Amino acid sequence: MSQSASVPSDHIPDISDFCPENWTINFVNEGAANLVFEVGLPPGIPSTAGSHRKRGHDIFQGNLLRVPKAGAKTFPYPELQQYWESTVTPLFPEENLVQQQLVRLGHSPSKVISRLDELLIKEESRRRKDFRGTRVLPDAQYGMLIEDMRSQNTSDLFLEFKPKWLSPSPSQRTRCRNCAREAYRDHLDPSHHKAHRLGILCPLDFLACRDSPQSLDSVLKHILPASSSPAQRNHLLNWLKTNTLLPLLQKVQSEHDPSSGVNLELSMTLRDCSLFLRISSPSEESMKIEAKLADLDKKNATKKKDHWEELERNLVEGGFYDGKETPREETDCLLERN
Ligand SMILES: Nc1ncnc2c1ncn2[C@@H]1O[C@H](COP(=O)(O)OP(=O)(O)OP(=O)(O)O)[C@@H](O)[C@H]1O
Ligand SMILES: [Mg+2]
Ligand SMILES: [Zn+2]
Repeated sequence: MSQSASVPSDHIPDISDFCPENWTINFVNEGAANLVFEVGLPPGIPSTAGSHRKRGHDIFQGNLLRVPKAGAKTFPYPELQQYWESTVTPLFPEENLVQQQLVRLGHSPSKVISRLDELLIKEESRRRKDFRGTRVLPDAQYGMLIEDMRSQNTSDLFLEFKPKWLSPSPSQRTRCRNCAREAYRDHLDPSHHKAHRLGILCPLDFLACRDSPQSLDSVLKHILPASSSPAQRNHLLNWLKTNTLLPLLQKVQSEHDPSSGVNLELSMTLRDCSLFLRISSPSEESMKIEAKLADLDKKNATKKKDHWEELERNLVEGGFYDGKETPREETDCLLERN
């Protein structure tokens, strides 16, 4: 990322040098394993700040701070970063990846972590119910600076979704892997489906957008925020019909198929990533869409392998791939519609 160009890759900045007690922090969002914050340094932080902080160079500018959650059983950040650099970055153009770099959080007890935890306590009511009460991993030594993909001004539209499994399952099946799994979830817990007011989007619709108005409608219905303008809707519609990133993700996914048993780790990473879109209109006529993949974290395949294989067996044997389960579950799979 450009902001860090002056930091050599072997030099990991320690952000506890930047007087965390004086930061302005906003809680941005969270997932099951990570927390994301926006950090602002007060103007003219004293020169006692870290030696690598050059005058006028604010490493938080344009970046967000991502930290691990307590209790999440994921790899330590240096391992995630190493994996991302060595295994993920060769697969996609640089402009299609949310850039990330490691930072240190200071010695334990980390002032950075206590500041973030204080904020989490204050913001508890804004958090997703099932995430309330979770804090930053207390002895985390590292965080990440990630390129901020949110709107830069009020006319921008930011949206995110998980593309999931973009390829139809191998062999003659009437449901894709994602819809088969959703049907299985409904089967185990009938309230699951009801929690999705709009139904569940079939990921195959993403790639069918270029040829099928029905798929396009379906995708827009699921990912377009209600607050968007007609122009933004149009930009997104054009992007869905013409983008090269989703086809590339599909290709890379099919080259790393979990059923091949080769590199299960990478197959899982590629099926759990997020896609962020920022649509902006620099002028009346022109528009810019930035499309970047994020959350490309290394997965613990050894731990998940047995669960994975069992689930696959249940999907096949229970007839979920073929819509032959009893009782029959409704899905909106593209393969069932055709
Ligand atoms: N680069 C970014 N720009 C803007 N928002 C972001 C960025 N990275 C993360 N977020 C926000 O923070 C949320 C959680 O981030 P992240 O995906 O890193 O967490 P996670 O725990 O890995 O999630 P999951 O449970 O989906 O694996 C995202 O859904 C998004 O809303
Ligand atoms: Mg994740
Ligand atoms: Zn489907």
